[in-house]
Amino acid sequence: MTDIRCIGICTGGGDAPGLNAVIRAAVKSAFLKYQWKVIGIPDGFDGLIWPEKSYELTLKDVSGILPRGGTILGTTNRGNPFNYRRIENGREVIRDISDEVIVNARKLGIDAVISIGGDGSQKIALELFRKGLKIVGVPKTIDNDLCATEVSFGFDTALHTATEAVDKIHTTAESHHRIMVVEVMGRDAGWIGLEAGIAGGAHVILIPEIPFTIERICQYVAEREAFGKHFTIVVVAEGIKLPPELKENRRAGAVGNVVGNAIAARAGKEVRVSVLGHIQRGGSPSPFDRILATRFGVAAVELIANGGFGQMVCLRNERIESVQIADAVGQVKTVNPDGEMVRTARAVGICFGDCEQC
Ligand code: F6P
Repeated sequence: MTDIRCIGICTGGGDAPGLNAVIRAAVKSAFLKYQWKVIGIPDGFDGLIWPEKSYELTLKDVSGILPRGGTILGTTNRGNPFNYRRIENGREVIRDISDEVIVNARKLGIDAVISIGGDGSQKIALELFRKGLKIVGVPKTIDNDLCATEVSFGFDTALHTATEAVDKIHTTAESHHRIMVVEVMGRDAGWIGLEAGIAGGAHVILIPEIPFTIERICQYVAEREAFGKHFTIVVVAEGIKLPPELKENRRAGAVGNVVGNAIAARAGKEVRVSVLGHIQRGGSPSPFDRILATRFGVAAVELIANGGFGQMVCLRNERIESVQIADAVGQVKTVNPDGEMVRTARAVGICFGDCEQC
């Protein structure tokens, strides 16, 4: 058992439904089981760059936050203390201010930190750990692309949101005999696209892991027309690799439109595009995410109690375990194009825009 009296907690990177559930669980178990004081570190590690922003989190502060989306601590996907942008003498400079962060943690009386975040935040956590800060990680991302954990909280809620959107698009697509393109998030992994596509009964799913052609999609649309189905739903993951002829049109958040325009030009049918965007990150966490987040929060406190610094909690075979952060970062978990999930989708006639079923 380590000599801990006070822990800090921070949330970094893009937010995800379930962050508040982790904060609540960590504060409750730290206080109720160990009588530790908990300091909330706002906006990623910013609260350790400006320690005056950090404040004590009490049981009262975390009461009622379980069903709330976002994070009560705020977050940022800038603010890396190892590459910190600041203005000095009117000029923007990049500085390594990690030493200040460690000194400030000490000044605040923080003995150990829980860092809740995705790959980027865990890389920062690892570097701070290597410099002597006692730190443990909790994985977070709606993209579900972290190798070290079977699933991260936030994914299930995002999947529900995306599936509900595809359901809603279905009825209007059918009424208007249109091709409807739905762009979903997921960064370089196709998990949200694949699973929302299967769950929402999409006809075409485009994911980064499977190269596609517009020609094949239009051929598939024509096959549906011949079968008497005059509408088609195309789920597009934001990270897809565009075919060479469309590449120059690539802009962040615009691939759905690029694909939609290309299909419209070739298929001679009306196409509409919906980009779901940050809606997928918002809203109340699903029961699954609330439970996983609560388990992670409690497990992070246990890691600290047992001296498991430099480790991150994770889910493996439905059990909460831990891994070295060093072994967890930098590896993206992508969809296996030959895996069971893709084969299942193909078996029910879903087209991936490739020529597997030509
Ligand atoms: O990693 C989560 C995620 O929502 C990705 O799916 C998306 O590409 C990215 O974050 C968007 O980030 P931002 O909030 O900076 O627009």
